[in-house]
Amino acid sequence: MPVSAYDLTGRTAFVTGAAGGIGRACALLLAEAGASVHCADRDAAGLDETAALVEKRGGAARVHRLDVTDRDRLRQAMASCERLDALAAVAGIMHRSTVLETRDEDLDRVLAVNFKGVLYACQEAARRMLAEGTAGSIVTMASGAVDTGGPGLLCYGAAKAAVVQLTKTLATELGGHGIRVNAVAPGWTRTPMTTRDDAAAQTRTEAAMARLSPLGRVGEPEDVAHAVLYLASDASCFTTGQILRPNGGVAMPW
Ligand SMILES: NC(=O)c1ccc[n+]([C@@H]2O[C@H](COP(=O)([O-])OP(=O)(O)OC[C@H]3O[C@@H](n4cnc5c(N)ncnc54)[C@H](O)[C@@H]3O)[C@@H](O)[C@H]2O)c1
Repeated sequence: MPVSAYDLTGRTAFVTGAAGGIGRACALLLAEAGASVHCADRDAAGLDETAALVEKRGGAARVHRLDVTDRDRLRQAMASCERLDALAAVAGIMHRSTVLETRDEDLDRVLAVNFKGVLYACQEAARRMLAEGTAGSIVTMASGAVDTGGPGLLCYGAAKAAVVQLTKTLATELGGHGIRVNAVAPGWTRTPMTTRDDAAAQTRTEAAMARLSPLGRVGEPEDVAHAVLYLASDASCFTTGQILRPNGGVAMPW
């Protein structure tokens, strides 16, 4: 497969969670590969920073300030795209509470953002691709939490497991239309989500996470963005319904 299979020139990608962390890295890399990127997030200042970075590197970006739990806003934003070839549904939140301490409102909030927010984006993107006959690619953001249990990760892990199920189901439903659907399940990645105010505690956490990996380091947002670029591009044209794991080898499922 020639390197040009990664070329997204003339294509349009919609990225949620694009105001920072992994979503921003995805927007930057997809733009670098030639895509016109639409960046969606609830954080207006972060969105503007992302768009400025894309444009500084010679790319084209438009921003949409929205909450991914608002299906109508997602539909409007996608309708304003000139075309839609790829979705990266990256927006998400972290929540930690033990099973015994978990409240209904915690579970509802995490499922609303991390599962329904992804579901709505997938539904709206798929409708647009189907209506226009686009052989598009949908990429969802799961987590290494789907491979391992962990104290406090009930709400987060359950939502990410639901994202995996959504991904596999949608892949079977859309494959006949030439639309591919895959998930990325990153390991521990250095982003605002994983950054603590306490620098010493941060260093200890990163060292502990790095020791879990055969590669001896934690992930960077760009590590995940490269997986998203692969799945969004023709380089992965025979890949659908899969979970790609940029996790440093921390988990090695069959
Ligand atoms: N960082 C990691 O170690 C890690 C590991 C596995 C999976 N992930 C997943 O990757 C994705 C990105 O995580 P990150 O580490 O870059 O986090 P992050 O907190 O740095 O970025 C998340 C982005 O999502 C946006 N967002 C959150 N809720 C939103 C909402 N309701 N509507 C619109 N935007 C919203 C935030 O404003 C932020 O810009 C998440 O889905 C996360 O669960 C992260």
